[in-house]
Amino acid sequence: MLDIQKIRADFPILSEKVNGKPLVYFDNGATSQKPQVVIDAIATYYQEINANIHRGVHTLSQLATDAYEISRVKIQHHINAKFSHEVLFTSGTTHGINLVTNGFASILKPGDEILVSALEHHSNIVPWQMLCEKTGAILKVIPINEEGELIMETFDALLSEKTKVVTVNHISNALGIINPIKYMIEKAHAVGAAVLIDGAQAVPHLKPDVQDLDCDFYAFSGHKMCGPTGTGILYGKEEWLNKLPPYQGGGEMIKEVTFEKTTYADLPHKFEAGTPNISGGIVLGTAVDYLNHIGFDNIQKQEEKLLEHATKRLLEIEGLKIYGTGKNKASVVSFNIDGIHPYDIGSIIDKLGIAVRTGHHCAQPIMNFFCIPGTIRASFSFYNTIEEIDTMVEAVKKAKTMLS
Ligand code: ALA
Repeated sequence: MLDIQKIRADFPILSEKVNGKPLVYFDNGATSQKPQVVIDAIATYYQEINANIHRGVHTLSQLATDAYEISRVKIQHHINAKFSHEVLFTSGTTHGINLVTNGFASILKPGDEILVSALEHHSNIVPWQMLCEKTGAILKVIPINEEGELIMETFDALLSEKTKVVTVNHISNALGIINPIKYMIEKAHAVGAAVLIDGAQAVPHLKPDVQDLDCDFYAFSGHKMCGPTGTGILYGKEEWLNKLPPYQGGGEMIKEVTFEKTTYADLPHKFEAGTPNISGGIVLGTAVDYLNHIGFDNIQKQEEKLLEHATKRLLEIEGLKIYGTGKNKASVVSFNIDGIHPYDIGSIIDKLGIAVRTGHHCAQPIMNFFCIPGTIRASFSFYNTIEEIDTMVEAVKKAKTMLS
């Protein structure tokens, strides 16, 4: 059992007041809070070893390079990648996805098909649409049912030898539904398609095993898993990363440059042009250590309790409807109250110190499916408590009374 109060003490912001009330932070799907060890590691980097990496023979440059590369290996082990050069540092999930879609521009032909799920965040829709515009490939959508689950029969029927890419999130940001990605990867591979998994919402809750999943790409952000903003990882299978052209040209991604011809560096540097977010990459490793120290089994147990309690308590409110009622869910509750705009509830409960996200959550197609403008989304982390959920439920009740 986790000692939640002890864990909360690791996060200085959790004892802040917002609008004069103790902060109840339920916007973890947007970004997680940061433990002191992560905050300190950022300062330590700048105080002790700040230098550019992979460039200098001087001691600080070597120390910074070593710390950056140690973090890469840490993340390799965390996601069980076969090689550390399959782990690319990015600025976040969006960067990782765009790196892949940019690469596929030289691979896809007119009429090739890309299957994208109806549960995607805009960042896993728009880059593929842009790719279709460039190449003449066709985007096809794997639909959802009323529970917010992907319909596997339709997915199976959409797959054909024309399918070149399947892209799906591991966990839906708007509804919290956990997708059957292992099944989908196996099916996609059976027709020769590559698979990209958007793991942005999964990595705070679970430890992905990319070799077991057998996905071709797995993109995620550091800031949702207790790491700094502007950090992320794109995992890609070696054979795919060798096949894709570089995303950006610049320093550090080359073997040799002449005006006649430039040759590219080996992985991972081929995809890491320019000076990266060095402290961010190093500190992402610190965040991964922190989460592993808490333990993902413990994280999941706590979050399951929170999800169960929140679902039960919120459903006590008359006229409240939860979106995303499928069985496999992460600790996210997306809901609305009959006749009340989600923004109005969100604004009132903010005055009571409660941070939730309201709106379409960058997933407008899901909102269109349910014919709603948006939802109120409470997304929980292992450092949240049952008492905080009760506080939110009382605040939502109060807001409902004020707005009815
Ligand atoms: N993608 C983040 C969210 O779902 C920002 O809130």
